[in-house]
Amino acid sequence: MTGARTTAVRRLATPVSVLTVSHEGRLHGTTASTTTLVSTRPLILGTSLRAGSVLGELAIAAGWFTVNVLGGGQAELARWFADGSRPPGAAQFDGFAWRPDPLTTAPLLEGTLAHYSCRGAGRIAVGDHEVLLGRVVESDTGSGDPLLSFAGGLRTLTGRDGTTP
Ligand SMILES: Cc1cc2nc3c(=O)[nH]c(=O)nc-3n(C[C@H](O)[C@H](O)[C@H](O)COP(=O)(O)O)c2cc1C
Repeated sequence: MTGARTTAVRRLATPVSVLTVSHEGRLHGTTASTTTLVSTRPLILGTSLRAGSVLGELAIAAGWFTVNVLGGGQAELARWFADGSRPPGAAQFDGFAWRPDPLTTAPLLEGTLAHYSCRGAGRIAVGDHEVLLGRVVESDTGSGDPLLSFAGGLRTLTGRDGTTP
């Protein structure tokens, strides 16, 4: 028995996404490894975000957001959109290929494994986090292996780090 420690849940392997939003002209992106399917009919994804996260606040205000599921070679994107020193607004997307999601108007990152265009379906406070719910209205899937978060690092299905598989 090891008790209920945060480090114990690092054995959960989860996909890594960048959630993006556009609200009144303000763009924002945030890395999350907690996006999962919570309902099939209707199709709803949930992402657990730190209470008060910028992405969560903007997504609720906008009513729409986009989930960009990262591929195995996109660890750089994962690290950047988790970096608290990234610039605010559109500048944080400089240097990355993206276009506005036709449905949500949020940045749709090129070369990702999948995009899910979501209509906000509310959020549920759970402990020190909030689960942001989004009904999938449009989706677009690519091919390739996912980027995974596991044991405190970024992995691919074949390697230890998304940058050096
Ligand atoms: C691989 C990885 C996964 C992450 N997953 C989450 C997550 O699921 N929920 C969360 O709140 N923060 C997560 N973070 C941390 C956020 O990306 C980071 O705190 C971010 O700066 C929050 O941005 P915001 O508050 O500006 O939206 C993750 C970071 C990394 C590197």
